[in-house]
Amino acid sequence: MTRRDEVLEALRCAGEADVSGEDLARRLGISRVAVGKHVAALREAGYQVEAVPGRGYALTGVPDAPLPAEVRRYLQSALWERLEGGGVTGSTNADAAALARAGAPHGTAVLASRQTAGRGRLGRSWESPTGGVYVSAVLRPPFPPAALTGLPLAVAVGVAGALARFGIEAGVKWPNDLRLDHGKLAGVLLEMSAEADRTAWVVVGVGLNVRRAGSEIEGAAYLEDVAGAVGRAEAGAAVLDGIAEGYRLLVAEGFASVRAAFGERDVLAGSEVRATDSEGRLIAEGRAADVDGEGRLRVDTSDGVVAVAAGDVTLVGNGR
Ligand code: BTN
Repeated sequence: MTRRDEVLEALRCAGEADVSGEDLARRLGISRVAVGKHVAALREAGYQVEAVPGRGYALTGVPDAPLPAEVRRYLQSALWERLEGGGVTGSTNADAAALARAGAPHGTAVLASRQTAGRGRLGRSWESPTGGVYVSAVLRPPFPPAALTGLPLAVAVGVAGALARFGIEAGVKWPNDLRLDHGKLAGVLLEMSAEADRTAWVVVGVGLNVRRAGSEIEGAAYLEDVAGAVGRAEAGAAVLDGIAEGYRLLVAEGFASVRAAFGERDVLAGSEVRATDSEGRLIAEGRAADVDGEGRLRVDTSDGVVAVAAGDVTLVGNGR
């Protein structure tokens, strides 16, 4: 816990009572000037801290943002040793990749309340207004990249499972979108650094639409549509717990378990679909069956079954 977090926790524990700067300084073994600086930093991050002359400080408001100290209060998984960010950034995937290159350990994560250069799959951008949570985790799997082809689907299934704590059952659309009936709730983007036989790091990025803020994202579904108001720290913690569970499922139980869990949430199975590559070229058109042992989508076409390894899939008829 950082000193700033210690000041925050001391204020939180005091509830509505004022805590004097002198008292905080003594308890934490720091100077009163240092207490003042930490309080200023908390205010900068969006916390409301009232200062009453002669009485002390009181925490009167907590921001609705995925700040590490708030996210920690809801986390269930023990995987996340280091949490960073919580405010505005370009891309949490870029931040997490930079941390990974600098040696950040397995279990590091970066959160943001808004992104200005969010990255999506297939080189697209990811709209990231205030109202969503944006999470990227650094994993260091002790496996070659070939053993990780099922990780995107595992993460999607894990996050969908974690969102059940808000009373919702999200579907998963291959390869790794989370969907509610009326739109896309979350997207998953993996980036990695690996050699043929060794994975240096994987960054698992998840963007979750929590509530509307300003203009609506086209085709999006929002957690608040079905779960009511959910704080973004709580939503961020659920995403991290979901990533941890997806990773655990793949590593501890293998892809067969991921595949079975996906089967329960598969929104494409039995539907007519069109799979295209990143340039929009047709790969397969037919009835979506299931995923094979490598996580490829099997499409039953008039020329036989085609296994689609990557690309975009839309439902024929409604463009989804
Ligand atoms: C998709 O295209 O469906 C995947 C979108 C993934 C977006 C998330 S938001 C957090 C992380 N940071 C990014 O820049 N992208 C991912």
